[in-house]
Amino acid sequence: MTALRHGHDSTEAYGSDLFVDSGTKFIEHGSDRNGALLWAQPGYRVGRRNVTFGARRSADWFHVGMKSIILTRYGGPENLEVADVSEPKVGPGEVRVQVKAAGVNPVDWKLAAGGLDDFFVVKFPCIPGWDVAGVVESVGPDAPEFSVGDEVFGYVRKDWVEYGAYAELVTASVGMLARKPQALTFEQAAGIPLVGLTALRTIRLARLRPHETVLIHAAAGGVGSAGTQIAVAEGARVIGTASSPNHSYLADLGATPVEYGDGLVDRVRAEVPDGVDVILDYVGGGAAAQSVELLADRSRLISITDAEAIDLGGRVVWGRPDGRALTELAELADSGRFTMNVARTYRLDEAADAWRDIQSGHTRGKIVLTVDR
Ligand SMILES: NC(=O)c1ccc[n+]([C@@H]2O[C@H](COP(=O)([O-])OP(=O)(O)OC[C@H]3O[C@@H](n4cnc5c(N)ncnc54)[C@H](OP(=O)(O)O)[C@@H]3O)[C@@H](O)[C@H]2O)c1
Repeated sequence: MTALRHGHDSTEAYGSDLFVDSGTKFIEHGSDRNGALLWAQPGYRVGRRNVTFGARRSADWFHVGMKSIILTRYGGPENLEVADVSEPKVGPGEVRVQVKAAGVNPVDWKLAAGGLDDFFVVKFPCIPGWDVAGVVESVGPDAPEFSVGDEVFGYVRKDWVEYGAYAELVTASVGMLARKPQALTFEQAAGIPLVGLTALRTIRLARLRPHETVLIHAAAGGVGSAGTQIAVAEGARVIGTASSPNHSYLADLGATPVEYGDGLVDRVRAEVPDGVDVILDYVGGGAAAQSVELLADRSRLISITDAEAIDLGGRVVWGRPDGRALTELAELADSGRFTMNVARTYRLDEAADAWRDIQSGHTRGKIVLTVDR
């Protein structure tokens, strides 16, 4: 029937019969000589029941897929399934990364719940996850920026949600990736891209200068940990909000910690009577409105979660995939001024527990999935 290329250690094309587990349906994507790629259809056997598909050559079986976490419809952690799916194709200007670790972000479960339906097309079944650290496994046409074996990390958000980073392999255009900081582990590096790029963008757009003071809401979370360190590295004074168990953590990052909640403005004024130069709201829930009176120039209020910031005179910012900016963060990490606290790691097949954990809203730094292949 169809020639299949795969077998993990071979690129040879085999003229052989396509095998699927009986009763299992697949779509073949293309019939090119490099082999048909397969994607299971809704209604087929996937997940913990473990789909098997491969090419028969003599008496051998060749696994053509990769282990991944999939969603077949909108839902919560309970809808995440472990499944073997086809490996993503590597297009022009892209590389395919063997995932060592995948960062978990609140947006992952928000997308799964349908909360970002206005902004992103989700093609089910889909693999969640936008943050990756790993090793370049193959290089597509015209992608000279990277070679097989390079250690990289990246925010690999695509135009639609389908092939994400909760998998053994993920593809990315070269512009989304940077070389992994040597000073950091794969787990630390995987926790950085989305939050680090978002934090960097907010700090740049707020025009934060050395010796200025910035109030960071949710300074102990993923974005907050990144933003606090970047601002401190740039010579700013950081007042960071967190609950008291995180105050020594924030002090270690170089911030002055303050408790959030009623009386916040008074507590901040006790530290900086003239108020702050910039407010970065990384939590929402009214934090921007509650604190905006601390700001002389309201255009320097930036929120990543709360549209009310616009009514208050500020703006809302979204992090963007950006390999160059990620290289800046990697250099900062290798200079010893930037790292990422990994609060907890989970195995890929424990992704549902990782989502329940991050849904608590009290992660210190990042939660990361580890991936063995
Ligand atoms: N626009 C974008 O591009 C963008 C990018 C990244 C993230 N986001 C969004 O931004 C938010 C933060 O993301 P994240 O990854 O940093 O989340 P996260 O890591 O889950 O944030 C957890 C942190 O929030 C703190 N926190 C909880 N309630 C708080 C409050 N009322 N005041 C101050 N701190 C509070 C917790 O500190 P305590 O444990 O001390 O309470 C914890 O350290 C999420 O809603 C996410 O979806 C948007």
